[in-house]
Amino acid sequence: MPDLSVQVNGLKLPNPFVIASGPPGTNANVISKAFDEGWGGVVCKTVCLEADKIINVAPRYARMRAQNSKEVIGWENIELISDRSIEVWEDEFKRLKDAYPDRVLIASVMEEYGKDRWSEIIERCAACGVDGFELNFSCPHGLPERAMGAAMGQNPELLREVCSWVREATDLPFWAKMTPNITHITEPARASLESGADGIAAINTILSVMGVNLDTLRPEPTVEGYSLPGGYSGKAVRPIALRMVMELATMMFGESGAFQDRSISAIGGVESGEDAAQFILLGASTVQVCTGVMIHGYGHVKPMCDQLESFMDKHGFESIEEFRGHALRYFSTHAQLVERQREVREKKKQEREIGKDTHWEGDRFVEQSDMLVSNK
Ligand SMILES: Cc1cc2nc3c(=O)[nH]c(=O)nc-3n(C[C@H](O)[C@H](O)[C@H](O)COP(=O)(O)O)c2cc1C
Repeated sequence: MPDLSVQVNGLKLPNPFVIASGPPGTNANVISKAFDEGWGGVVCKTVCLEADKIINVAPRYARMRAQNSKEVIGWENIELISDRSIEVWEDEFKRLKDAYPDRVLIASVMEEYGKDRWSEIIERCAACGVDGFELNFSCPHGLPERAMGAAMGQNPELLREVCSWVREATDLPFWAKMTPNITHITEPARASLESGADGIAAINTILSVMGVNLDTLRPEPTVEGYSLPGGYSGKAVRPIALRMVMELATMMFGESGAFQDRSISAIGGVESGEDAAQFILLGASTVQVCTGVMIHGYGHVKPMCDQLESFMDKHGFESIEEFRGHALRYFSTHAQLVERQREVREKKKQEREIGKDTHWEGDRFVEQSDMLVSNK
């Protein structure tokens, strides 16, 4: 039977499926449910020092459904980070670690620019026994005026500084969570890794406008008649997430990759074991799920584990590490694809032509004889 367990940055997980920061990790009650159902780990909803500044609106979600079925294929949100105080979270982190000492609990944190703020939030969460951190450099909406989230994550030089503060504040592993709302995701990732991040989590949501209501003529989701671009997630974003994870893995683990000992926690549209297998084939060690849990519930981890096991069985893989990154070798440049195709076509043409006696050439006689041999 294949072994789904994962060891990454000193963390031991029973399987690679991790709850992504968001509603499915929003308090101790739901996090306990996730552990009970068998999730490999949980990243909590993002925590900050001044939760009283976090004011959410309702409604704050909008869904995209497939045209010919009810299936939800995309999800937009304009939700902010956690509106629960750091004191409440400290209490819940302690209670969760008491109840689930062997399970991986990762604190997602986000702060304004400032060494004291970052050191304080890291030290307070670490004191409660969390196993590691995810730095939210990627929340797309709501707090740009305070230069938090994606506003910070789009600036590699800021990340360089913040990650070095965090490295100074803790020996626990930390992942830097990237925004996809940037041209080259490898640039902020590289800055974070060079400043001590143990891994990269990617992607957060993609800036989007779900649609415009043709009766009211107003954009969705509508709050008192108005809206703003939100973050898109779910199945529809998976191809973009796969591309970004592939770019990150190539930078980190490729031939000249300088970050072989770091990790990728892949996020974006995962709803099945087969989806997870694809991210692992592109270099991820763990796979996070947010929207999938909002659609299918916590129990969905069981079929996902079964599906991943079946995939591994089919290929004879005994561990996650055995196939991690396997598909990266099959990416090439367009020019190289053209060249490969030209070579194959040329060979086929020669094989076709050699069937006729007029095409034998003195200089290529041995090569052409070889082409006609069946048991090479
Ligand atoms: C409603 C909602 C709230 C979210 N809140 C957070 C958050 O507080 N912190 C964070 O880092 N990411 C947050 N995310 C982003 C997710 O963690 C994840 O990166 C993204 O949704 C893509 O994964 P998915 O397709 O599995 O949802 C949120 C996503 C959704 C849908």
